[in-house]
Amino acid sequence: MKTKLDALAYGKIVNSLGETSEDVLQIAAPGRINLIGEHIDYNGGNVLPAAIDKCIYFSFKKNGTESNANVLTTNFKEGFSFDINVAEKPGDGWLSYLSGVLSELSQLRPGKVTGFDCMLNSKLPIGSGISSSAALLCGFAKGLNELFNLEIDDITIIKLCQNAERIFSGANVGVMDQFAVVKGEKDHFILLDCEALTYETIPAAMDPNMLLLLNTNVSHNLADSAYNERRSQCESSLEIISAKYPEVKTLVEATQEMIDDLAEELGEDRVKRATFVAAEQKRVEATVKALKNNDFEQVGELLNASHDGLQNLYEVSCPELDFLAAYAKNDDRVLGARMMGGGFGGCTINLIDEKNVDSFIEDASKAYKEAYNIDLSPIPVKTNNGVSKL
Ligand code: GLA
Repeated sequence: MKTKLDALAYGKIVNSLGETSEDVLQIAAPGRINLIGEHIDYNGGNVLPAAIDKCIYFSFKKNGTESNANVLTTNFKEGFSFDINVAEKPGDGWLSYLSGVLSELSQLRPGKVTGFDCMLNSKLPIGSGISSSAALLCGFAKGLNELFNLEIDDITIIKLCQNAERIFSGANVGVMDQFAVVKGEKDHFILLDCEALTYETIPAAMDPNMLLLLNTNVSHNLADSAYNERRSQCESSLEIISAKYPEVKTLVEATQEMIDDLAEELGEDRVKRATFVAAEQKRVEATVKALKNNDFEQVGELLNASHDGLQNLYEVSCPELDFLAAYAKNDDRVLGARMMGGGFGGCTINLIDEKNVDSFIEDASKAYKEAYNIDLSPIPVKTNNGVSKL
């Protein structure tokens, strides 16, 4: 059973972890963006995410006990003491995510993790679609891997964090977020082949343009159930298509001709989903080409087209995201914009000339406030390294 840390215990741990000493391990775990390639990671696609320069910071220290962990967050000013061998139930907030990682680690390396203290400080807005949960899971897992010399390789860490996220969030997520958070490289996007789990780095310099996130500050409840529903629609689409075209092993390999051919059997919804998936995969390839040619106008158009598909075919957007995407599309200061991540809230990602950023933020914030009476949160981002030791 976990117990809440009282003020004294909380303060003691903050003090002991706050000092820089040899036995304190410090880790930064970044959030992620995704330039393009949405909802295709679980369809065998290639996606183009990056780690960003906003992180969750962790400090770890062994505490000499056999199995007692004290973990606290300075964001919520709360902490807990618990036995690392007693798993928390899903749904119990941030601690249950960490407990999920601990169970995965102890299955892989029984008895290797002993008592420790851990302090978290997040500079990542939660629930904004920049994968604060993947940063939490991957930073925690990589930190314990280092602290206890578990020698678990990155791909295994990525998969175990994906698994913990699936169990504890209830959404049957793909591998993109954890991969970007662990493997990100400063000044680069990661062109990730989600089937093979191999990647190529693509330079992210887009001078004079930059990437700006606009956080809608809404997150609609639907997210997890709709995510799982989309995923199962894609799986049943694949079954239908591969029954006639056995060469199709993942949904991104289905062509528009095949989808049209099987339209009746697939039904309207699945036709829309599969059509989006096929087109989004092509847009990723086109974006990589455009980036290599410094053709940022073209990148912007591809972002707009991606949003259109996510809104109308994949149907994972929401009015607030559509408002911001349309606002950016109709504004000459922005090259292109789309919703980013799972959808139903969170951020849009905007490709914009740096000199226009301030004026655009001001106007978009005003318009958004007028339309929804919600404050917009702008988040300028740069690409960054994945989880790192400080
Ligand atoms: C969430 C999931 C990812 C991916 C995106 C949509 O972020 O965690 O695996 O499916 O949605 O692209």
